[in-house]
Amino acid sequence: MLACAQGTPFPAGFLFGASTSAHQTEGNNTNSDRWPLEHGGALLPELSGDAADSYHRWPVDMDLLAELGFTDYRFGIEWARIEPAPGRFSRAALAHYRRMVDGSRERGLRPMVTLHHLTVPRWFAERGGWRAPDAVERFARYVAATAPVLGEGVEYVCTVNEPNVVAAFAAGAAVTSPPVGLPLPDPELTAVLIEAHRAAVAELRAISPQLKAGWSVASQVCQAVRGGAAATAAYRRPREDVFLEAARGDDWVGVQAYTRTRVGPDGPLPPPAGAELALNGWEFYPSALGEALRHAAAVVGNVPIVVTENGIATTDDERRIAYTQQALSGLAEALADGLDIRGYLHRSALDTHEWGTSRPTFGLIAVDPRTFLRAPKPSARWLGRIARRRTLPAWPF
Ligand code: BGC
Repeated sequence: MLACAQGTPFPAGFLFGASTSAHQTEGNNTNSDRWPLEHGGALLPELSGDAADSYHRWPVDMDLLAELGFTDYRFGIEWARIEPAPGRFSRAALAHYRRMVDGSRERGLRPMVTLHHLTVPRWFAERGGWRAPDAVERFARYVAATAPVLGEGVEYVCTVNEPNVVAAFAAGAAVTSPPVGLPLPDPELTAVLIEAHRAAVAELRAISPQLKAGWSVASQVCQAVRGGAAATAAYRRPREDVFLEAARGDDWVGVQAYTRTRVGPDGPLPPPAGAELALNGWEFYPSALGEALRHAAAVVGNVPIVVTENGIATTDDERRIAYTQQALSGLAEALADGLDIRGYLHRSALDTHEWGTSRPTFGLIAVDPRTFLRAPKPSARWLGRIARRRTLPAWPF
């Protein structure tokens, strides 16, 4: 139980806000590899289509986040828009994302920019994707081209969102998140992604010494059950630890925690009977955040950690608040124990396209799919109040 009844003040400079990604919010990413997959390549219940139309409505999103009290916003830029054909860079797309950086700062929101969030340009995929011999070089060239977006006014940059998921999906796994566990990442792709990350970090350092480069790993929060200790270590290493180890020496590492994975001697197990489940089938398990932070810290050593995603897919906003309260208490405990945690970005800022469906609503802010009108939920106001007070709530109350 948390000792500190008054709550935990945010450390100086602590990032507190919400996250989105480009493909899930922008709409009409027709040049992304995901678009042909959605239109005939794979049987997905729903297309991304207009998504939340944030490509046009980002000022409204940012207005709301700032009004709610948040100080930080993590959003993605889409490689497929910036480099629509190999080596051809769109000045208009770069200017668009530059306006987003400026617009964010004008509203008092510090932007964290993600360069790659589970999608690549169509042409990149058609030429072999991450398996192409010059994949790393092409990614590095794209990163270098983002200088007009990142050169001023940006501090935190995430090179690759969830490289462990990228490597697992590219290994032929399902295109939507499975309810339990992560498929085994392809070791060759893991190595390529680590190389791509390193190359991107070098490009970012060349763009500006102000930039803080890192990547965000999908925390598996593995728990050994029924004598599954050896199986758990073997399960976790290729799915999480190699990616965290690759972050040693970075400016920060992102932790993304939603639920846990119980592992028995034969592999991952379904949630315990009777467990509360989120809309996407993940177990309601808010302690995942604290556990993920401790595991990441143990593996990365003294690299600062930022929570770049944490949240729950539910239509019951009270459960979102309950989940987030408990997750934040795990964060407060980890801070009290001296972990170097630099921020908390809830996911998602908006209800978004969820990789083949829009049913699992993770948003603090609801989006009407026909009018695109945004409506902050009570959880958004609750979390915004915490942002304004700059104190993490104590738990239990
Ligand atoms: C990803 C998000 C995704 C969420 C829920 C995270 O792993 O970064 O893009 O929507 O999980 O599936």
